[in-house]
Amino acid sequence: MSTPHDSHRDLAAPGGGSDGTLAERFENPGLHEHKPRQADVDPKTGKRVERQVLFLFTLSILGTIGVVWAYFALPPGETVGSMRLSNLVLGLALAVCLLGIGIGGNYYIKLLMSNREYVEERHDLRSSDETREIAVQMLKDGGEDSGLTRRGALVGAGVTALALFPLSILVPLIGNVGEDWNVRKLKHTMWKKGTRLATDPTGRPIKAADVTIGDVWHVIPDGLNDLEEGKLDEKAKAVVLLVRLDPRDLKSDQSPEGETWSHDGIVAYSKICTHVGCPVALYEQQTHHLLCPCHQSTFDVADSCKVVFGPAKRPLPQLPITVDDEGYLVAQDDFAQPVGPSFWERATK
Ligand code: FES
Repeated sequence: MSTPHDSHRDLAAPGGGSDGTLAERFENPGLHEHKPRQADVDPKTGKRVERQVLFLFTLSILGTIGVVWAYFALPPGETVGSMRLSNLVLGLALAVCLLGIGIGGNYYIKLLMSNREYVEERHDLRSSDETREIAVQMLKDGGEDSGLTRRGALVGAGVTALALFPLSILVPLIGNVGEDWNVRKLKHTMWKKGTRLATDPTGRPIKAADVTIGDVWHVIPDGLNDLEEGKLDEKAKAVVLLVRLDPRDLKSDQSPEGETWSHDGIVAYSKICTHVGCPVALYEQQTHHLLCPCHQSTFDVADSCKVVFGPAKRPLPQLPITVDDEGYLVAQDDFAQPVGPSFWERATK
């Protein structure tokens, strides 16, 4: 009668491959020559390992007893000290219990359990010729039954319908992600020439005279609060941080074309981090640095909000500002660059 071991070859057994000849190893790729462990060949070492495992398991038993004892004997009382003592003893006992089991079990498996390697011979995976012929015939019969071979026009129409179906999803998608999405929705915000800068969230227009050196204002476009629809979307793109510096500290307040984008040391920058879009709002007055709390990108307000540290790859877009006849701060135009993470940016407007 065959046994499960008939199909296994014990490599450690005599003649089972333990001689490690090149031919044997080539026949059994991946298996190295079996090397007996010290505990297998030396009874004294075997006994010592047994005692170690026994010790670790005993330690675990004592740990468990310690947990149960501590649970009843040292309940957390009213004082902080008694809670600490209870937690400490419970924790230590639990650690001893788990470590004893874990290390002891590993020791036992690694050093005492049999580590012989076996090879299972594979039978032939190829089906018989007869089975293969039946399978092919079944496929042919299925094709005949479906009638597809006799209805060419039907098949053509079905294939065309399937091929065209993705267009019903792709066309609206391309329409949105294409020009409309890219240019109108992402590259432009509510800001336009003459829009007053207003406080967030009250929407009160800001006069330049109200902003003192060192001030930081959270700003939204005047009129945002009156929007009936899409208010949050517009706000998410248009939020601005307004800062007033001593004009002598400003290293740059001009557009690349040389137009002045600030007013008497007051500068306005998008609050949306160009890394992955967190709101940048931590201002360090002494260094003029703006810090994004998410991944610590740091921007220099005195120098066109260039990145001085962190993962952001481009400056915060600047909102060109000036004052109107009544002394209110107003935008000269929309942001000079698309706001938000750099992956939104495709080109300058
Ligand atoms: Fe600002 Fe990452 S989102 S640093």
